[in-house]
Amino acid sequence: MKAIVLTGLCLLGLSLQTSVFAASPYAGQARAAAVCSQCHGIRTPSAEAPFPSLAGQDQTYLETALKQYRDKTRKNDVMNAIAGSLSDTDIQSVASYYSKLKP
Ligand code: HEC
Repeated sequence: MKAIVLTGLCLLGLSLQTSVFAASPYAGQARAAAVCSQCHGIRTPSAEAPFPSLAGQDQTYLETALKQYRDKTRKNDVMNAIAGSLSDTDIQSVASYYSKLKP
């Protein structure tokens, strides 16, 4: 009984997550604003910030970078951990969002 309830809760959590982060620039924007901007900033960060600017980057470049972080072919502890929880859809929408931002 307990297992059934837990499974149900997990499924609910999963479906909520996918509906919130559907592939649209707006879903990417919400996620980016909530998570990525804490380090990458909304616009270009100051020159001495250790975080690369994502605004205006090529969409394909961003998607490739995130997929490399996710499968750990590009190594960085912070980004490996973050990209590890992103789905293809998340990567697409977040890349689309940042590629459309003016640097
Ligand atoms: C805790 C801080 C932190 C957070 C949060 C964070 N990043 Fe990063 N990110 C970094 C650091 C540090 C690097 C540089 C890593 C390196 O040298 O490879 C980086 C690198 C990147 C790169 C490669 C940029 C380039 O020019 O090659 C991309 C793309 C990226 N992050 C996307 C994201 C996205 C999308 C999110 C949100 C889902 C995010 N990051 C959240 C710290 C962060």
